[in-house]
Amino acid sequence: MGIYEKRPLSSKVSVIGAGNVGSTFAFSLMLSGLAREIVIIDRNEQKANGECMDISHGMSLTHPVQIRSGDYESCAGSDIVVITAGANQKPGQSRIALVEANAAIFKEIIPNIVKYAKDAILVVVTNPVDILTYVTLKISGLPKSRVIGSGTVLDTSRFKYLISRHCNVDPRNVHAYIIGEHGDSELPVWSNANIGGISLDRYCIACKNFSNCGGKMEWENIFNEVKNAAYKIIEAKGASYYAVGLAIVRIVEAILRDENSILPVSSLISDYYGVDDICLSIPSIVNINGIEQLLRLDLSQEEQSGFQQSAASLRQVVNAIKF
Ligand code: LAC
Repeated sequence: MGIYEKRPLSSKVSVIGAGNVGSTFAFSLMLSGLAREIVIIDRNEQKANGECMDISHGMSLTHPVQIRSGDYESCAGSDIVVITAGANQKPGQSRIALVEANAAIFKEIIPNIVKYAKDAILVVVTNPVDILTYVTLKISGLPKSRVIGSGTVLDTSRFKYLISRHCNVDPRNVHAYIIGEHGDSELPVWSNANIGGISLDRYCIACKNFSNCGGKMEWENIFNEVKNAAYKIIEAKGASYYAVGLAIVRIVEAILRDENSILPVSSLISDYYGVDDICLSIPSIVNINGIEQLLRLDLSQEEQSGFQQSAASLRQVVNAIKF
């Protein structure tokens, strides 16, 4: 058959959890056309079936893909398993407050995933995502390159969007990162934020609206809006899922297409500005192997100490849980 030889289906992505985030991700993944097969697994089989039916009924309007519900065994042969299962934040509740309930769930699900999908890359999304990425790494025994938390990809997208709106420029031309915890101790890297290659400070001074704008004070407001975004959305509509669904698709895309994309995902950190043995986000090269490399950012003194504080607060949480 030569080059026309039939190959087995590739690009299989399994999703654990058919809640708002899991099903929005599955829907967005179908729209992206990236996967050949999507499996949705939930302990509530009826819910998983319903989501599969609803999503697959749009298939003739988008991209052909096999979508089905299943059990852990159905994860076999997955390239990627995305984990969204667990309790989610109630209005006013922090992500960290979910740690005990969700670490207990992970203790049960991770061995099952690894049993059947031993070659997959695991993408952890459930909150508190950095802690659960660490828990997944330890329970699974997988190499650190194959355990990735969605981390601050979403926060960074919020950050770029808010800067872009303020500066009236395409968000894709804003280059700026939120690093550290996906949560209350996260921090912006202002020192190397830029628009179209021009540092934010210089862009600001050159901007024709400079005299009407709060300058640095506005930056602070933008960051606070990023940090509190989930609280505001949950207060307003009960849960956040569209943008995080897209953030996961972006990570999955970088892996499946072997893109070497730089994304601020959460992974095991070692010897990074004095931080060791904790998972949190810094810009990292992501490709078919998972995390290929973590980038050494040039952080200012203030950013270094913000990063160390973020790591210290996560360390306290890790030390307090049993898994
Ligand atoms: C948020 C949730 C996904 O930040 O953590 O919206």
